[in-house]
Amino acid sequence: MHAQVGIIGAGPAGLMLARLLQLNGISCVVLESRSQAYVESRVRAGLLEQGSVDLMTQTGLDARMRREWMVHDGTEYIAGGQRAHVDMWDLIQRRIYIYGQQEVVKDMIAVNTAAGVPVLFEAEAREIGGLDTDRPWIRYLHRGMEQTLTCDFIAGCDGFHGIARPAIPDAIRRDYVRDYPFGWLGILADAPPTLPELIYCQNEERGFALFTMRSPKVSRCYLQVPPYEDEANWSDDRIWHELSLRLGKHEGIALSTGTITQKSVTPMRSFVSEPMRHGRLFLAGDAAHIVPPTGAKGMNLAISDVYVLSRALTEFYKTGATTRFDSYTGTCLRRVWGAQHFSWWMTSMMHNLPDESAFDRKRQLAELRAVLGSRAGRTFLAENYAGLPLEM
Ligand code: APR
Ligand code: PHB
Repeated sequence: MHAQVGIIGAGPAGLMLARLLQLNGISCVVLESRSQAYVESRVRAGLLEQGSVDLMTQTGLDARMRREWMVHDGTEYIAGGQRAHVDMWDLIQRRIYIYGQQEVVKDMIAVNTAAGVPVLFEAEAREIGGLDTDRPWIRYLHRGMEQTLTCDFIAGCDGFHGIARPAIPDAIRRDYVRDYPFGWLGILADAPPTLPELIYCQNEERGFALFTMRSPKVSRCYLQVPPYEDEANWSDDRIWHELSLRLGKHEGIALSTGTITQKSVTPMRSFVSEPMRHGRLFLAGDAAHIVPPTGAKGMNLAISDVYVLSRALTEFYKTGATTRFDSYTGTCLRRVWGAQHFSWWMTSMMHNLPDESAFDRKRQLAELRAVLGSRAGRTFLAENYAGLPLEM
């Protein structure tokens, strides 16, 4: 089999790239090791920045999203027992959109398949090569048979544990890593959102909690927990009790509870690998970088990477120009490091570190007060939260 672009991975990065290429008349094949049912039910974050929404609209991926999303002009913060409201619309005339990543993935699969883009599920890429030639290849296993896809370019959209990043020689690659001494226990519950807006909550004694949502009837909540905590240690009662303690008592806020339908623990990590291009291989999304989920930048970064990549590929096929290939790593990493800084900053400002001194705890609270208490601070927060431009 041959395609102009071989895409490994059917997450938001691979599927958005497939859509963009198809609209520009470039042929591609998407190889996904998991089943369609698995990728469509994988629960992840669910916050879209304006830039991601605009691109989904331009590419016709927005029909169901517009019916089901929840549009947010502002966000609530609780820190040091005090409530603060960050009114993004007033500050920067931008907003954010809540729509689950697995819904985005479902829509992207449906639209790509309807347009005739081959998305092969249970097709595991085993090896890639020829990256320094004009005919790179992907060896993959599909329905028990080993096959080869030859292409002009390979897009490694295969997530953090994929095979694309390790194909870049160690001598060329540089990884930047920070692990955090905590994780998030995330739950989905049949409970209306506690407030119409998201609540980011820093509790001095007990740690971080986040109250978000998926629909008017479904809440998504997160609790800071030890990094490799076993979710079996968290009964439904314990989860609701802890969420209630971290939220605290505030006029007009009553914790909304209900049946918990899903729970899982995610460790938290900041990670960037460079370069994002090696010969005819391009990395995009989690294959090249991971952010801690505070601020939910992961899916948005995946989308902005492939936007940049699609422009480079489109220009190449139209004019033969390769300048955008050369600038791919630099262009993506400017935005990636912006989001890395913001995600690290939100994370360190909102969580309790296990070995933090009393001084650090007070300093953290003072930082939160300074940011939330000034229009300049809230504007900085809002600008980054609502998202940097797609291409910087
Ligand atoms: N062959 C084929 N597919 C593979 C292989 C392989 N060898 N290895 C991994 N994959 C697939 C995974 O099964 C997964 O479906 O690649 C896909 C990568 O998708 P994501 O992990 O969703 O990564 P990405 O598209 O970059 O999106 C980033 O996802 O992890 C979240 O929080 C993250 O929101 C961010 C978003
Ligand atoms: C989510 O809705 O899952 C979500 C929202 C905001 C975050 C993280 C996760 O910062």
